Amino acid sequence: MCGIVGYIGDKNAYPILIKGLQRLEYRGYDSAGIAIHNSSLKTFKKKGKVNELETFVADKDTRGYIGIGHTRWATHGEPGNANAHPHTSMNGNFVLAHNGIIENYAELKEDLLKKGFVFQTETDTEVLVNLIEYFYNLNEVNNAELAVRLALSKVVGAYGIVILCKNEKDRIIAAKMGSPLVIGIGQGEYFLASDAGPIVEYTNSVIYLNDGNVAIIGKNSLTLKTIGNAPVNFKITKIDLSIGDIEKGDFDHYMLKEIFEQPKTIQDTYRGRIKPEQKDIVLGGLLDVFPKIVQAKRIIIIGCGTSWHAALLAEYLIEEYARVPVEVEYASEFRYRKPIINPGDVIIAVSQSGETADTLAAIKMAKKQGALILGICNIVGSSIARETDAGVYTHAGTEIGVASTKAFTAQVTVLSLFAFKLAKARGQIDQEFYEMLINEMLDIPDKVQTILLRNSNIKKVAEKYKDAVNALYLGRGYLFPVALEGALKLKEISYMHAEGYAAGEMKHGPIALVDDNLPVIVVSAKDGYYEKVLNNIQEVKARKGNIIAVVTESNNKLRNMADDIFEVPESHPAVAALLTVIPLQLFAYYIAVMRECNIDQPRNLAKSVTVE
Ligand code: M6R
Repeated sequence: MCGIVGYIGDKNAYPILIKGLQRLEYRGYDSAGIAIHNSSLKTFKKKGKVNELETFVADKDTRGYIGIGHTRWATHGEPGNANAHPHTSMNGNFVLAHNGIIENYAELKEDLLKKGFVFQTETDTEVLVNLIEYFYNLNEVNNAELAVRLALSKVVGAYGIVILCKNEKDRIIAAKMGSPLVIGIGQGEYFLASDAGPIVEYTNSVIYLNDGNVAIIGKNSLTLKTIGNAPVNFKITKIDLSIGDIEKGDFDHYMLKEIFEQPKTIQDTYRGRIKPEQKDIVLGGLLDVFPKIVQAKRIIIIGCGTSWHAALLAEYLIEEYARVPVEVEYASEFRYRKPIINPGDVIIAVSQSGETADTLAAIKMAKKQGALILGICNIVGSSIARETDAGVYTHAGTEIGVASTKAFTAQVTVLSLFAFKLAKARGQIDQEFYEMLINEMLDIPDKVQTILLRNSNIKKVAEKYKDAVNALYLGRGYLFPVALEGALKLKEISYMHAEGYAAGEMKHGPIALVDDNLPVIVVSAKDGYYEKVLNNIQEVKARKGNIIAVVTESNNKLRNMADDIFEVPESHPAVAALLTVIPLQLFAYYIAVMRECNIDQPRNLAKSVTVE
């Protein structure tokens, strides 16, 4: 949530900052702003997207070699010009851009008000920038870095911040606690950003700041220290990301590009982990802890949104094949509800971004109780990846569309491999069955490709239902999480109200919604639930609901009952989610396009939810 950027070097900062903000726009897009240091501090802010800021500053003097920028997802104070970042301190000595939430801002503000500070906005960030100014103005301080550290020692909350001081024109100060911040190292220049996306076209050498780090950055110098002034050693990481990975190429939207990348991203995710010659699965990141996992008394999987859906699917797979009890929890509930964590429990955090505040807090809490914590993250070096004891990266590549697609199938791929490996290691399945599951997984990319080639049919069906007000998604077993995911995709990008339900639950309430205007999307496979799903469909048809069925090629019974079908290739039920979810992603995408919605940046959402 919110993206921050910074630049110091010999180039004009403005173009680098604005491009950086465009790359980070997926993190928030309520308003944007930049500040440039060029003898004086100049700040430009605008409600709306980064291109509105760009238009606004087109005729302004933006020259200068040092600057910071911000794209906002509003927390404190409505989206508007005044609440946009960067914020300026009362006497104009500091500007600051902030990602995160200062939790004790109200009491800090009260204190500052008593000291005579005056505020222009309702934001927590304005409190922080004034607190820095307060310390700076104390006679014995008058040093920006010290003022920042003293202010941060009073702050409770999460922040990634970049700061310019009017009287110190040769440096940017940055700090991190909870919200991500990356420093890119160039030749006589440094870049700052909330993730590596804005940095990758200039350098692949980066430093991921750790919580509690304060960075003092000149164009030829970089010092890291703690808030308490102790020196911090840093590690330079080489990032493996190219510009092509973060541009949308010939596709109309990032989401469509990401849907179409899935044959490759699923393959990238299992490549090197499935060993076809040895007929085995090796999850390198878990090798050291695997004996402990095999002995686990219980596995708890936590996540939010789409990642939670992947977790739910993993519960079905692990319990069925490995026979280990699994609990799946929303991280936002788990972190506060005082769960019982026993020795021998294994916690798995699933997160695309690796930055989701609730998931991060949940694992920190579980860690304190001594559990083994594993991470399944997409972003290398992310906070969750670093906070966990061991883990597996999903290798989906950068996902920019706010609606998660390729990250979901990559998560499901990793969790399926994990379940199959665990089942084999625990002696619950034999080699023949294990090999069959492996082969089913190896076939998935080609089958996904087959579905993608049928996208024109999905588009036609979307045309028919684009004006519906509600939609119901039904699935059972492994396909219940797929129904939930399909409904989430539709509502988040098309703003059509959609509910996902376990098909068997329909008659306990949602059936009341069924009439001849309601599309009911039924996800089924020829699994143990098949006949039951057919009965559920009869119940909907009896009430004149419209059935859109995701069917396999030989599934004639269901095909004949449905008003419309999305056909997917046959597969073993254990991997069917990876196929059946694809038409649902495309269906949501086309409906949203036809409803003229903002596909990649749906209203009120942000890609990475770094506030609770
Ligand atoms: O980065 P994470 O996987 O932790 O994010 C979790 C959710 O915020 C995310 O899946 C969200 O629900 C997506 N917008 C779904 O498309």
